[in-house]
Amino acid sequence: MRHLNWGIMATGMIADKFAHGLSTTDEATALAVGSRTLDRAKEFAAKHGIARAYGSYDELIADPDVDAIYISLPNHMHAEWSIRCAEAGKHILCEKPVTVNAPELERVLEVVRRCDVFFMEAFMYRCHPQWTRLREVLDAGTIGEVRIIESAFAFNMGMNLDNIRMQNPAAGGGLMDVGCYCVSFSRLVAGQEPCALHAVGHIGAQSRVDEQATGALKFPSGAVASFSCATQCGVPSKANVYGSQGWIQVTNPWFPADGNASLIVSAGDKQETIEVTHGRELYANEALTVAQYLDRRQAPAMSWEDSLGQMRALDALRASMGLVFDCERG
Ligand SMILES: NC(=O)c1ccc[n+]([C@@H]2O[C@H](COP(=O)([O-])OP(=O)(O)OC[C@H]3O[C@@H](n4cnc5c(N)ncnc54)[C@H](OP(=O)(O)O)[C@@H]3O)[C@@H](O)[C@H]2O)c1
Repeated sequence: MRHLNWGIMATGMIADKFAHGLSTTDEATALAVGSRTLDRAKEFAAKHGIARAYGSYDELIADPDVDAIYISLPNHMHAEWSIRCAEAGKHILCEKPVTVNAPELERVLEVVRRCDVFFMEAFMYRCHPQWTRLREVLDAGTIGEVRIIESAFAFNMGMNLDNIRMQNPAAGGGLMDVGCYCVSFSRLVAGQEPCALHAVGHIGAQSRVDEQATGALKFPSGAVASFSCATQCGVPSKANVYGSQGWIQVTNPWFPADGNASLIVSAGDKQETIEVTHGRELYANEALTVAQYLDRRQAPAMSWEDSLGQMRALDALRASMGLVFDCERG
């Protein structure tokens, strides 16, 4: 596996976690950070022991020693900066949701292909081996045919309109921030793209994004999925699969960690808890997944086709709840 020198684009909440993740492994290096302001870049670099700090994203992508860029910008900036990174020959790990909508992603993928760089949506949860284990249990037929999938990812951040999650121009909202995990999980379990989707959501008068929403998906197999997401209401995380002969509960679906990732599998009169260990910090594992599959340009845990299916599903769900982002208006 190649040792990558990472450039971190932006210094927000998740960039901080990613930089911390990189500090837990010797197999990758956080070499540089770029911010809108040099002071913030320097402060972030000092905190995480990063050698180079830049006062602009342009300078970061111009650094010839940076192999891969982690894009942790607000959602509405993902496409533009993915394209700019690709054109600068940098490999890309871009935060979720990978773009604002599917047509944007199609444009990004065109450039990524042309520039022949690695590209992955930073759905860190997908890189954890509990999903491979879940797939094995499903494929073994232990719970029979998958019939119902249910999930939730929701939290209460209060009416903080300064936060990108509460801003329509930043393509925020509960669906884009956390509901996207539920949609991703439902599609993963079904193993196919949905044929019918619908969501209802409360669009805040000030935020102009969904503050709580619930959605449903139907798959060609006959499986149906429901999910809830919110930024204004806490709900215990949930990811359950019900089959014709049993059920599976994923106990820690979104932030799986060693000692805290297991599948409870119940079939007939048997119930088993499968612990899934890993040995790596969640975000370090994501960065190392990039390095592992660099030559293939995409990783099986989160392929380009998967991201496209995901964005198409999010587009349909948003359309059904009447949520349009400012950047999509003609
Ligand atoms: N995978 C995960 O676990 C996870 C978790 C949380 C968030 N995310 C995703 O990561 C991305 C960033 O989320 P975050 O929570 O880190 O957000 P955040 O704390 O608000 O950070 C975003 C950063 O982007 C830069 N930025 C550039 N233009 C901006 C603008 N107009 N408004 C605000 N910030 C701007 C800023 O960095 P500088 O000032 O340094 O330029 C800012 O610190 C989102 O796409 C989100 O969906 C993923």
